[in-house]
Amino acid sequence: MTSFVMMGQILLITGATGLVGKALVKQCLSEGHTVHYLSTQKSKIVSQTNYKGFYWNPQENKIDIACFGGVEVVLNLAGASIAQRWSNAAKASILSSRTDALALLHSSIETHNFPVKHIISASAIGIYPDSKTRYYDEKFQGTDASFLRAVVKSWEGSLKPFQSIGVKTTALRIGIVLDSQEGALPKIMGPIKHYFGAALGSGDQWQSWIHIDDLVRVFMFVLELELEGVYNAVAPNPVQQIELTKLIAKILQRPLVLPNVPEFVLKLLLGEMRAIALESQRVCAAKIQDAGFKFNYLELEPALEDLIA
Ligand SMILES: NC(=O)c1ccc[n+]([C@@H]2O[C@H](COP(=O)([O-])OP(=O)(O)OC[C@H]3O[C@@H](n4cnc5c(N)ncnc54)[C@H](OP(=O)(O)O)[C@@H]3O)[C@@H](O)[C@H]2O)c1
Repeated sequence: MTSFVMMGQILLITGATGLVGKALVKQCLSEGHTVHYLSTQKSKIVSQTNYKGFYWNPQENKIDIACFGGVEVVLNLAGASIAQRWSNAAKASILSSRTDALALLHSSIETHNFPVKHIISASAIGIYPDSKTRYYDEKFQGTDASFLRAVVKSWEGSLKPFQSIGVKTTALRIGIVLDSQEGALPKIMGPIKHYFGAALGSGDQWQSWIHIDDLVRVFMFVLELELEGVYNAVAPNPVQQIELTKLIAKILQRPLVLPNVPEFVLKLLLGEMRAIALESQRVCAAKIQDAGFKFNYLELEPALEDLIA
């Protein structure tokens, strides 16, 4: 009798050491894939049988091209954090870390003719303008002059050159990633736990979220089905900020007694970066669902219960 064994692939992951990257690497390894990853930090580079790190510095156009050995699919998550004060230098780094990373991957693949067939890249729902009334799907084309829009447009634009060298591209417009250890959730939970939680600004801004496990499953789904194009990576039921705050307080069994934090206070505390907390993007998950993806966490409350418990 012939036995058929599914072989894992060799995947190249950038930004593998971050919040999303760590969870994605874990899943890739558990599914039998080998992970090569690029890191800008030499201290984060390890070499194990199925998990091998390689150094790069996109700003200086440096890359260890051995990372491409046997690789057909690249998962791109690299980018300087947007959760820092948006000084001019920080803004430049937020943008260039994303565009330089993709440009360097592209030029390396083109120059050395590496047989990469698909790049799946993080993008963000920040591409959609701030609106309390619109319901955004991937076909929406409008934009405005904000910094976030400019960053995400350029980021997605940096994927286009891959198509002309025969590499399929996918951009996943990721919403607010909910994770128990890192990212937005622990930051929102902190004040609520210590009895000074409050909704931010008007509180009626839409927040399109996704549970970290579902986000990892979206990446694996796109990888397996070789889906191309742009997909929103958000749960199907976004909520308004006040609702998110109330649900966290309910699960933590804490009262919410303070009035909403006014926008001018957020401006003082966060500067222009307050846009992350105050912008409203109600984003639709129908396209990835129509492709057959089944969310484990459709509603916010069970997602929060899972993460906070
Ligand atoms: N978390 C969210 O809520 C969310 C929402 C929407 C979109 N996204 C996007 O999804 C991607 C992954 O998110 P994440 O939360 O996992 O981010 P993260 O925790 O900040 O990790 C990003 C990784 O990018 C690498 N990086 C940092 N600065 C860099 C630079 N200057 N040049 C090249 N690489 C650099 C770092 O890896 P090394 O130190 O190993 O180089 C870092 O671990 C990001 O691009 C983010 O913008 C995230």
